[in-house]
Amino acid sequence: MTSHASVSQPSTLAQPINKSAHAFDKVMLDAMLARRFFFAPAFEIYGGVAGLYDYGPTGSALQANILDAWRKHYIIEEDMLELDTTIMTLSDVLKTSGHVDKFADWMCKDVQTGEIFRADHLVEAVLEARLKGDKEARGVKEEVEVEEDDKKKKRKKNVKTVAVKLDDEVVAEYESLLAQIDNYTGPELGELIRKHKIVNPSTGNEMTEPVEFNLMFESNIGPTGQIKGYLRPETAQGHFVNFARLLEFNNGRVPFASAQIGRSFRNEIAPRQGLLRVREFTMAEIEHYVDPLDKRHARFAEVKDVKLALLPKNVQSEGKTDITHMSVGEAVAQKIIDNETLGYFLGRTQLFLIKIGIDPERLRCRQHMANEMAHYAADCWDFEIQSSYGWIECVGCADRSAYDLTVHSVRTKQPLRVQVKLDQPRVVEKLECTFDAKAFGMKFKKEAGMLKETLAGMDRDRLQCVKDELETGVASVKGTDGKSYEISSELLKIEPVTVTEHVREFTPNVIEPSFGIGRILYSLLEHSYWAREADKARVVLSLPSLVAPIKCLIVTISQDSQLRTLIHDISHKMRKLGIASRVDDSSASIGKKYARNDELGTPFGCTVDFASLQKGTMTLRERDSTSQLIGPIDTVIDVVDRLVKGTIDWQGATEVLETYSGVQDVE
Ligand code: ATP
Ligand code: GLY
Repeated sequence: MTSHASVSQPSTLAQPINKSAHAFDKVMLDAMLARRFFFAPAFEIYGGVAGLYDYGPTGSALQANILDAWRKHYIIEEDMLELDTTIMTLSDVLKTSGHVDKFADWMCKDVQTGEIFRADHLVEAVLEARLKGDKEARGVKEEVEVEEDDKKKKRKKNVKTVAVKLDDEVVAEYESLLAQIDNYTGPELGELIRKHKIVNPSTGNEMTEPVEFNLMFESNIGPTGQIKGYLRPETAQGHFVNFARLLEFNNGRVPFASAQIGRSFRNEIAPRQGLLRVREFTMAEIEHYVDPLDKRHARFAEVKDVKLALLPKNVQSEGKTDITHMSVGEAVAQKIIDNETLGYFLGRTQLFLIKIGIDPERLRCRQHMANEMAHYAADCWDFEIQSSYGWIECVGCADRSAYDLTVHSVRTKQPLRVQVKLDQPRVVEKLECTFDAKAFGMKFKKEAGMLKETLAGMDRDRLQCVKDELETGVASVKGTDGKSYEISSELLKIEPVTVTEHVREFTPNVIEPSFGIGRILYSLLEHSYWAREADKARVVLSLPSLVAPIKCLIVTISQDSQLRTLIHDISHKMRKLGIASRVDDSSASIGKKYARNDELGTPFGCTVDFASLQKGTMTLRERDSTSQLIGPIDTVIDVVDRLVKGTIDWQGATEVLETYSGVQDVE
């Protein structure tokens, strides 16, 4: 009698799994991620640089699998046009897009030491620490931790929490401020810092007034440095500058979407949150171009029943964080989500995040408040994922309206517009703008073209408002640069005209889901991490096999040379099928080998022993339940192949292979 290897207890198919037997331990997770080289500080042997990380073999494979799932979910399934545009971006492009002037955060400095903080993050950390101190004083225990700044990045510190009970009104005020923390301008943050006596938590020194800091890395192109450039802060501009070609590729029709996966760079003020806030990161962005008068989506019915956890802007501006659970269909019908296309992408994004293993209970959609919205956005919802760092934006879904295409078109004089031939010519009454060209040009100089384009892009209702205002002598018009311009009735006339149209022309609106892959990857690691009930040190990453770095472990219980040859043969067969498998032929115990791969998230394990040589069988183990099945080697390989491709699940595997009880008879 010899037995196939098994974990210490005989396996059954339905082992109860208790994933919450031990409290989440971030220190242990971080240690494991470093030890198993998921990622590590870049240039670590030189002391590292805050906000720059390298991914090791496991992290790279996990990221590649997430990106592969993303490409299939969006680019392949939705027939999007893929792009790979340059990272180095001409400064003119980013000047036109508004990033040179407006892509900034507010920073403040310790007046004595010069230590730098992002103003909103400082206010948030200090108020949270005070609320924590209040809870402690009231006898409620909780941990609030923030990392040290660039120079001392290795150390961690607590924002000093003193167990001081606050007045109920102060607690309510802090909670309300925190619910709206993303909505404050720099001067407002300055006021909050003064009003609430916020100082540097480590020195107790006062802070300077917040000043704007542009997050782009500047560069020069060419040997003489005559061409100014920036490392791109988003991939989106690479889509917009190629719009005319994309439109032609799509036979001149909208809607369609372009998609791009690539690196972006932001010189974050004080990156203190590991992979969640870095200075170089992988983004996956979709730009969906749509008729502004018709933001319906052809596949809306497929997602209308997806339930979202919504945190609308009006709730936040009341200082609350109450969630409304609602289907995409209902939210669009009630105009909580502005249109079908935005709703469609929110629904599809939720399906994607859950597919790769994000816990649906720790996922919410938060709408941006007015001040928080990027300069180009008309409406914006963030998918936020909860982790030990709190609720963090991982995917931004913005309606960028016609902003980008309009500004690039004005600047380059290229028509980034769609023409739709009408089936029947139509007679329409329109409002037409006529300018006193010379006087208009003299008054508005280089802004004249932009203003004309702004007026040309207005719908009838908005133009009517300008016309009404002109009756008073002057109308105020907001240009695409966000500034207001006073136009007098001598320079501009708006009159109704009747025209016969054969073609309708418009600048498409853009709906943009923008994914930060590193944030999703890290959140997924936290959500997947747990420790076995019997032993806190035996940690497991329950990654879905779709994204797990290695799909199958192959081991032998003995160092016998025939068995070692066999596991390499099995690995070779699996790799030929495209299954990332890993042989562990070390002398470690079988339990240790399983444990080492449980923490890498390897979902399946194949084990051979002397019975394999005699009967040609091997066992198959499932990571979370530790259940085992047995069957002929080639059948097991085929089952692993189907499990990895997702054409069967573990239940399906039990229908092909026999339950393994831990002992097998051998003649
Ligand atoms: P935050 O407010 O957290 O700084 P943001 O509003 O600037 O984020 P967006 O400009 O909407 O973020 O960027 C789109 C996506 O890119 C985000 O949802 C996020 O996943 C990712 N992202 C942005 N900045 C970073 C960063 N510094 N490190 C890692 N990912 C980032
Ligand atoms: N492209 C969206 C963003 O970077 O915010």
